[in-house]
Amino acid sequence: MLQAAALVKGYRSGDRQIAVLRGVDLTIAAGESVSIRGESGSGKSTLLHLLAGIDTPDAGAVHWDGRTTLPVERRAAMIGMVFQSFYLIPELNTFENVLMAARVAGAPRAAARTRARELLGRVGLAGRETHLPAQLSGGERQRAAIARALVNSPRLLLADEPTGNLDEQTGAGVIDLLLGLGAETRTALVLVTHNAAHAARTARQLFLHEGVLR
Ligand SMILES: Nc1ncnc2c1ncn2[C@@H]1O[C@H](COP(=O)(O)OP(=O)(O)O)[C@@H](O)[C@H]1O
Ligand SMILES: [Mg+2]
Repeated sequence: MLQAAALVKGYRSGDRQIAVLRGVDLTIAAGESVSIRGESGSGKSTLLHLLAGIDTPDAGAVHWDGRTTLPVERRAAMIGMVFQSFYLIPELNTFENVLMAARVAGAPRAAARTRARELLGRVGLAGRETHLPAQLSGGERQRAAIARALVNSPRLLLADEPTGNLDEQTGAGVIDLLLGLGAETRTALVLVTHNAAHAARTARQLFLHEGVLR
């Protein structure tokens, strides 16, 4: 479903060029779960943004279903992304934040509302629908972001440290949910995590080190 080949990405800092990814290859099959660990600053978030098609590599290519372009509506339907810093819209309540992702994908309204409600229940946010992000705890925001990533029943879920702000028990519950989806609906999962126990639960475990995935 997704194939990344020889991805190179760097950032310019003043007149210096910092190489972050130096040739990353990765293939993800339908329903597959993969974890990526790596030191802070090793480029994990950078890599996920390339895989999501929201940033472009300096060299190399990503293929989604064999195609090198991913128009926004197709991306919204195919890929769910849980960002490291959530990116909830502060003016929208929990329910509306989740629904927003369905709007982008052009999902029918009634079905999207039902799905949003169901997902908020599954991540333990029933009763928090009308809270604004500022009225949620860090862990609750994280779970709202997870519900939003799942609202379009994506075939690929990219999760950037989705348990980083959660206590152990809530974090384990989130991982259960993410891995359970793979079994239920063949949703593929790329899980960036620092938690070795969580990483061990994916079918494949990778490390990003010195710009290369192995
Ligand atoms: N937009 C950016 N501009 C400049 N440097 C960046 C940018 N995004 C990330 N970096 C740098 O790239 C490196 C990798 O960052 P990141 O992908 O966030 O790492 P990780 O998620 O593994 O902690 C870091 O050194 C970071 O400072
Ligand atoms: Mg990161």
